[in-house]
Amino acid sequence: MAPALVCVSSSMFLLMICLAICSRADFNWDVEITWGADGHAKILEDGKLLTLTLDKSSGAAFRTRNQFLFGSFDVKIKLVPGDSAGTVTTYYLRSEAAAWDEIDLEFLGNSSGEPYVLHTNIYTGGVGNREQQFYLWFDPRADFHSYSVIWNPRVIIIMVDGTPIRQFKNLESRGVPYLKSQPMRIQSSLWNADEWATRGGLVKTDWSKAPFTASFRNLNVENTCVWSSGSSSCGTGHRSSWFDQELDSGGQSRLAWVRKNYMIYDYCTDPKSRSPAECSVN
Ligand SMILES: *[C@@H]1O[C@H](CO)[C@@H](O)[C@H](O)[C@H]1NC(C)=O
Repeated sequence: MAPALVCVSSSMFLLMICLAICSRADFNWDVEITWGADGHAKILEDGKLLTLTLDKSSGAAFRTRNQFLFGSFDVKIKLVPGDSAGTVTTYYLRSEAAAWDEIDLEFLGNSSGEPYVLHTNIYTGGVGNREQQFYLWFDPRADFHSYSVIWNPRVIIIMVDGTPIRQFKNLESRGVPYLKSQPMRIQSSLWNADEWATRGGLVKTDWSKAPFTASFRNLNVENTCVWSSGSSSCGTGHRSSWFDQELDSGGQSRLAWVRKNYMIYDYCTDPKSRSPAECSVN
């Protein structure tokens, strides 16, 4: 065999090993159960499916083993079917500092046939108050849909089935703090929040409908910069596509479509809010 060919075939071999080992979307590998390990949180189908279950005795939660400083994070979620009023399913990135950073997606359950609300927030240095809420353009309990966060030095983009619903730009030049130095973990939970979740707490969790279960698939944390002993390293092969990504004009117009048709609350237009600096930019 010619040396070049040996080289090609051995790198093919390494690539195949890597595809088998490195590129797994395996909950057994990527996450740890932090609440409900007694059976309320379950990893099934050889690591391909994770379920969180809430009943009167407990909710459930998981988080990624790794911490990340920037990345493109996707997961597919099928929310609690039927009557989910009072329950909240969360999917968020959060750092551990006392003045923490956080990118937050919370799905507020509802009675059968009534819409879920997707509640989002962004914290910098422990300060949030940046809520935006949306209805979805599909029933999120009927099937799996993908929920993504792109977090790079320029912008945070939250997407639903590839459609941007929110962006938070790096506006440090205008004095708005940005999330750029605290590594975050992905966290997810299902819990009872019937004090406030559904119609401001008017509709309570109907425990006769328990157990409530939300299901997760395809957690993709490959296109990320993984934090380890004080520094972050990005998989170079993947890095370029998302690391510099911003919304192009197609993305901007889809974002405008969502804001016009599905946004039900925006802190920027709330008369009670202090109208922070970032609100005058978008
Ligand atoms: C639940 O349904 C009601 C009635 O359609 C709606 O007003 C509300 O925004 C929905 N979501 C929540 C979380 O209350």
